Amino acid sequence: MAESMSGFMRSHRCTEVTKEQIGESVVLMGWVNKRRNLGSLIFVDLRDRSGLMQLLFDETNIGAEGFAKAETLRNEFVIAVRGLVQLREGAINENLETGEIEIKVLELRILSEALTPPFHIEEDSQTKDELRLKYRYLDLRRPDIQKNIIFRSKVAKSIRDFMYQEGFIEIETPMLCKSTPEGARDYLVPSRVHPGNFYALPQSPQLYKQLLMCAGYDRYFQIAKCFRDEDLRADRQPEFTQVDMEFSFADEDVVIDLNERLLAHIFKECLGHEIELPIPRMIWQEAMDRFGSDKPDTRFGMELVDVTECVKGCGFGVFSGPANKEGSSVRGICAKGMADMPRKKIDALVDFVKGYGAKGLAYLGVNQDGTYKSSFAKFMTEEELKELVSEMHAEPGDMMFFAADTDKIVYSCLGALRLELGEKMGLIDKSKFNFLWVVEFPLFEYSDEQERWVSMHHPFTMPMDEDIKYLDSEPWKARAKAYDIVLNGVELGGGSARIYDPVIQEKMFEALGFTKEEANERFGFLIDAFKYGVPPHAGLAYGFDRLLMLMTGCDSIRDVIAFPKVKDASDLMTGAPGEVDEKQLEDLAIRVELPNE
Ligand code: AMO
Ligand code: AMP
Repeated sequence: MAESMSGFMRSHRCTEVTKEQIGESVVLMGWVNKRRNLGSLIFVDLRDRSGLMQLLFDETNIGAEGFAKAETLRNEFVIAVRGLVQLREGAINENLETGEIEIKVLELRILSEALTPPFHIEEDSQTKDELRLKYRYLDLRRPDIQKNIIFRSKVAKSIRDFMYQEGFIEIETPMLCKSTPEGARDYLVPSRVHPGNFYALPQSPQLYKQLLMCAGYDRYFQIAKCFRDEDLRADRQPEFTQVDMEFSFADEDVVIDLNERLLAHIFKECLGHEIELPIPRMIWQEAMDRFGSDKPDTRFGMELVDVTECVKGCGFGVFSGPANKEGSSVRGICAKGMADMPRKKIDALVDFVKGYGAKGLAYLGVNQDGTYKSSFAKFMTEEELKELVSEMHAEPGDMMFFAADTDKIVYSCLGALRLELGEKMGLIDKSKFNFLWVVEFPLFEYSDEQERWVSMHHPFTMPMDEDIKYLDSEPWKARAKAYDIVLNGVELGGGSARIYDPVIQEKMFEALGFTKEEANERFGFLIDAFKYGVPPHAGLAYGFDRLLMLMTGCDSIRDVIAFPKVKDASDLMTGAPGEVDEKQLEDLAIRVELPNE
């Protein structure tokens, strides 16, 4: 039976009680973490969000009735105790913040009883994710998750403090919007008042923040919820949080400078870690050529080597074909000391790169005696092989892997292979925070799916001044005033200087294949706003969840989000998404027709 709390007022959290308070009376409230019965003594570890405190129940202090009540305590009961702080009578627990003291309980109230939880509330729980997420409210009691959630709040405050100090205004933007052009699928919300019409949940506050610049707010920021209906991964959720900002009268350098100081501020304040400034910048093309990725993990080497020239005339058709084709290439990576790699492992890597669109993966190992172990050596002369080995800077004992295909496929499969091998070979120093700006992105990328050029960032990104000339004729050559901030191979954030010249904006829409009418239909309000006086502006947004994942060293953003969704975008705890009443659908003028399986 639940007892009343009346007359009890919590005086401290568990770990707020210190040795200095010995002899004082305190009132603590929390959950029973563990109970040990030693006959005439009962020990209980009390848990609250601050940590643990040992409680001592002794019949001479609490009386027979109180002692009997203490005997009924089970894990996860919620209790309130009044007692005296004392030095531990038993052994000191060095692992516990409060390990030298305990509370001699004089009065106990059982505020709430608890069923036996489906899993133990403990650090590093081995419990299956499904069970943890179904009972997320219990999972959130676990100290390691709790630490992350509290840390999240600390980082949010640290960001706010910095941004306010730098003259930013925090402004909320709508959740019920017109679709924004970030390129993922929208989540739609039907309108009851306008049957057949839908709001879109924002993929980002992009258009609103640009309108705020038009409105004169100068420096805006927001910790904003964003929604994207895309396939989920460890660093992707359907709803996630951005630290979003926009600056007027600013170019890329202003944005980059402020953000370097912001990152330095939060890493120092929240982790005690000094980031060395300035953060290095790398041009997109260099990132692709060296790492096969626009978000390179620079914590280790094993960079890509372009061997296209070297194999142009060789007898191995798999190489010489792409080597002689515009837009294709042959590149390799060299895994130091891996020549002994068993065939089975190599085959697994071949399968791995096929997942990235590669047709195969050629390998060349140099044995200690100078002979080769290779899938293609027989197609090449000794001379050609020697040249290839030298081009790759390989030594006896090394294993090389090669991809020959369009640049796009070569980059993506070798980029992924490099990370896979880096991880497997233990080359990655996990204690490092390697920041990198990637700059000068292409303005457009070709979408195979849509069979047209699409914005790499979004349609409001300013081309580099010297590349504006390409917009009319050769748009694929244009580079953007866009920048991504990368940390340990994760895209932490991205942004750009925006177009504020209507002529350039019009060219941009044209290049994207929008007619004037279509552009007006979708973005007319922004185009109009720009006719009434628009300051040059630029901005950036971080994935807040990703930032926290990296700061806490977690493998998934799920571990830093209180109520995350699983891979199929459902919430195992509430059961969302779910069906709704006929009446609700009727109100919205919606009829559901499920596809046949
Ligand atoms: P972008 O689309 O690059 O830019 O998004 C900014 C950052 O948001 C994070 N992010 C995600 N995090 C978790 N789950 C997701 N599904 C997800 N999608 C994106 C990434 C990414 O770098 N409006 C522009 C910013 C600007 O130009 O100012 C924008 O949204 O860390
Ligand atoms: P094949 O002649 O198709 O048996 O291929 C010989 C070797 O080349 C095998 O090791 C294949 O995995 C590899 N290979 C095939 N296609 C490619 C490609 N596009 N790039 C790199 N290696 C490839």
